[in-house]
Amino acid sequence: MSTKHQGKSLKVEELGVSFGALRALDGVTFEVAPGEILGIIGPNGAGKSTCYNAITNMVTREGRVQIGEEDVTDVPPYRLPSYGLRRAFQQNAFFAEMSVLENMVAVSQHEHGSSLARTIFRPIASHAGAKRARQEARDALNQMQIPERFHDARPGEVPYGTQRSLSIALANATGADILLLDEPAAGLGGEDMKRLVALLRRLQSQGMTLVIIEHHMDLIMSVTDRIVVLDQGRMIASGTPAEIRKSPAVLEAYLGRAA
Ligand SMILES: Nc1ncnc2c1ncn2[C@@H]1O[C@H](COP(=O)(O)OP(=O)(O)O)[C@@H](O)[C@H]1O
Ligand SMILES: [Mg+2]
Repeated sequence: MSTKHQGKSLKVEELGVSFGALRALDGVTFEVAPGEILGIIGPNGAGKSTCYNAITNMVTREGRVQIGEEDVTDVPPYRLPSYGLRRAFQQNAFFAEMSVLENMVAVSQHEHGSSLARTIFRPIASHAGAKRARQEARDALNQMQIPERFHDARPGEVPYGTQRSLSIALANATGADILLLDEPAAGLGGEDMKRLVALLRRLQSQGMTLVIIEHHMDLIMSVTDRIVVLDQGRMIASGTPAEIRKSPAVLEAYLGRAA
């Protein structure tokens, strides 16, 4: 099975989020072109994850969000997948007692409109439907290079690198046009990192639009087309990896501090 993504554009305008007196995000504006990979970097607490919460309407915020030509500012989080937008969370979030395959069936069922509770607590109504759902889930896992030998294991039993790929696979479910990833490389070693880079490049080559929050500079610099730099909720720079590498503001606010 080969998934084709439509590679929609994502546009955010003047996003702002306050937590009491803390201005966690302020006037953040950027656009990601169809099929582009945008990196978001910045020190801890810069507002990167909050930016995803703002984009996906999971927090009270100001500003506007547009997917392709459609204004989705007021679309609730659970309806954004139907516009092609999905996100993975910073921490691996799995149903620990279900197999890898069942986890994929669950997110895909959820996406097809049945309630999560029904998905988990009731067997799928028809035998044919169940068989098709499992085959689609298997295809989706294979597509993300989760080896078949892990499909019947519980998520906690598979190697850490594979867990990280699994969280991307579950976020993608049976296909996204725009995928938001939050620190996909966290804790990954060399070989797993190479696999992740290959996976991201492959998703891009299939036409997917990607936004990646990441601390790992080698990954961000090698895989992204453009980078947005956040510091204390504000966008202090944006540009190509080469431009960001040379930006004095970034060196001072971020790279300098991290070193
Ligand atoms: N739900 C929340 N309530 C209060 N403060 C929050 C909440 N979420 C994040 N923050 C604060 O907002 C700032 C940005 O956090 P976050 O977006 O998680 O940063 P990053 O992902 O860049 O490390 C931090 O100071 C954090 O403590
Ligand atoms: Mg974060």
